[in-house]
Amino acid sequence: TDLRAIPTHDGPLTSFDPGFVNTAACHSSITYIDGDAGILEYRGYPIEQLAQHSTHLEVAYLLLKGELPTADQLAEWDKLVNTHRFVHENVASFIRAYRHDAHPMAKLMAAVASMQTFYPSSRRLDDPGARDMNIVRLIAKIPTMAAWSYRHSIGRHFVYPNDELGYVDNFLAMLFQSQQRVYRPDPRVSRAMETLFILHADHEQNCSTNAVRSVASAGNDVYTSSGAGIGALFGPLHGGANEAVLKMLREIGSKDKVGDFIDGVKNGRTRLMGFGHRVYKNYDPRAKVIKKSTEEVFEVTGVNPLLEIALELEKIALEDEYFVKRRLYPNVDFYSGLIYEALRFPPEMFTVLFAVPRTAGWCAQWLEGVTDPEQKIMRPKQIYTGHRERSFVPMDER
Ligand code: ACO
Repeated sequence: TDLRAIPTHDGPLTSFDPGFVNTAACHSSITYIDGDAGILEYRGYPIEQLAQHSTHLEVAYLLLKGELPTADQLAEWDKLVNTHRFVHENVASFIRAYRHDAHPMAKLMAAVASMQTFYPSSRRLDDPGARDMNIVRLIAKIPTMAAWSYRHSIGRHFVYPNDELGYVDNFLAMLFQSQQRVYRPDPRVSRAMETLFILHADHEQNCSTNAVRSVASAGNDVYTSSGAGIGALFGPLHGGANEAVLKMLREIGSKDKVGDFIDGVKNGRTRLMGFGHRVYKNYDPRAKVIKKSTEEVFEVTGVNPLLEIALELEKIALEDEYFVKRRLYPNVDFYSGLIYEALRFPPEMFTVLFAVPRTAGWCAQWLEGVTDPEQKIMRPKQIYTGHRERSFVPMDER
């Protein structure tokens, strides 16, 4: 309904599409979504299979290079990424310079954008070696910067990357290690985080990816472009919904209040957070996988009492005509907040936990954009609604 064809002064017709609901701005062969059928594929591989069999770094390779790696290619790729996890000490000083209560997402955004100053080769967009190397650096270093942004907010020392740990376990260790002893997560927790990372790695032209592509279309490096992506993801309408789900579950308080809450939603008093999606008019395939991971994590942490309320909400909503008619189903955020809370992440870290894996998708989309000869600088039109041709009014006559 937002899409209108409007005659303008500089052309016969302009389509007015303020949310880009029906406007494609690029070609892409990375991620496929069929929202009606509830299908999500990376490079043609169903998300369910990748979540079950793959690792995040393997998926990052797939997104970037278009094919699953062989065993040798994967070993080489893991080694390459994992040897670049350390960040310049000046970045540590930079993160330390913020107020202790600064949001970790704001610190991460600034740290990522600042990477360009350490790696000027990133500006050489026509040099394939420089492009690839700086993508590796960003994917390798973002968990370190994200973990340090968190440690700074709780007044703890920064934990350095550990060569003995894989990508996800090392990230958890940099976040949670408190003793000299190396933090080793329970394998079930580790697998659940790996799964969440895979599910969040890419989602075609969402708001943050569009920001990355738009900034890249002006000829910008991967750090500057991804910094813009983090800025977009920081917005509550994009990255903040799982936090809103937890708030909602707490407000409902107990299973027997779910019916009243649903009535309130149907009367337009509030929205059922974690339900509905611009693209999915079916069960979000990521939500199905996360629901299963929830059970695995709770085996380790004990059940989050809010789960009971969430399950009841889902059960009632899926049978209720209001939700059925509008094709509202659980989305990726409905269960992820419950897992993050059970793992003792504070709510302001939830969006950071989205940004770290999504970096793989941003890098793949950035690369596709800057190497596409058809890609022009992204510059939408507007429908001008202001005054025209007024004469300047001197100050004493206004
Ligand atoms: N609860 C109750 N009603 C809803 C909900 C909801 N969560 N979502 C949509 N509706 C209703 C609307 O009121 C509208 O009803 P109407 O036709 O009677 O007016 C109808 O469904 C269509 O809704 P729109 O807002 O037009 O759908 P849109 O595609 O623009 O919005 C969105 C999608 C923003 C995700 C929406 O479903 C929503 O607000 N959900 C809750 C927030 C949330 O979970 N966001 C996370 C999205 S996933 C992500 O970003 C990673």
